[in-house]
Amino acid sequence: KQETSAPTQCVGPDYKPDRHKPTATVSTDVDFETVTVLPQTPQLIALLTKIRDVQTERGDFIFYSNRIIRLLVEEGLNHLPTVEHTVTTPVGRPYAGLMFQGKICGVSIMRAGEAMEQGLRDCCRSVRIGKILIQRDEESAQPKLFYDKLPEDIAERWVLLLDPMFATGGSAIMAVEVLKSRGVPEERILFLNLIASPQGIKNFATKFPRLRVVTAFVDQGLDEKNYIIPGLGDFGDRYYTI
Ligand code: PRP
Ligand code: URA
Repeated sequence: KQETSAPTQCVGPDYKPDRHKPTATVSTDVDFETVTVLPQTPQLIALLTKIRDVQTERGDFIFYSNRIIRLLVEEGLNHLPTVEHTVTTPVGRPYAGLMFQGKICGVSIMRAGEAMEQGLRDCCRSVRIGKILIQRDEESAQPKLFYDKLPEDIAERWVLLLDPMFATGGSAIMAVEVLKSRGVPEERILFLNLIASPQGIKNFATKFPRLRVVTAFVDQGLDEKNYIIPGLGDFGDRYYTI
């Protein structure tokens, strides 16, 4: 079992002095420039605390997970290309702004990744969604591919790959291999994820050095069953069934 120490830091905006900030465990540092970890704000830490709590019942688990998913999607969209775009306002003045360029699609790794689809739809109206069904074997933690259904023109799109849990990285690596086999270049894939392990990030970022990852938190490590620790347990079970 590999574990790194969990850093506890003052959490809060610059305008508050450290003595007025709460302390909490923050994301483990990772040294890959393709990996973006969401800012460790009191809001994000409080949302994550809710979904990590074994006492949190399903309705709250869904509600608070959805709020984090929204933050991930909003940050993920910052990684897409934009072009300059000037508009005229109702008072007749120009405003030099931006607009997104390029077609996108979401691809969820079923089942847990499907929980992230609505957050993407809420930000990107009528976005195309593809699915890849990969299940991790409960004993060996090895991923198995069962099914995929992807937009025909996926090779021309930016792909937001969706899966909340990133443990060994095996499932995400398998999903990326499916996408690459359909002609999607690594640099046009963005993997959005709630909780990652340092091992999963290392395996993935070493294998795909041009693929960007946006995660809310990098945890301490994995337990003997390859569950993320401290983690939140089985995301799919908590969101869909228990
Ligand atoms: C979970 C999770 C990831 C995978 C992560 O799915 O949603 O897909 O495990 O583990 P890994 O990084 O070690 O591959 P699971 O296969 O348990 O299925 P589920 O989505 O039905 O819960
Ligand atoms: N899948 C989950 O849902 N949780 C983990 O900790 C690992 C894999």
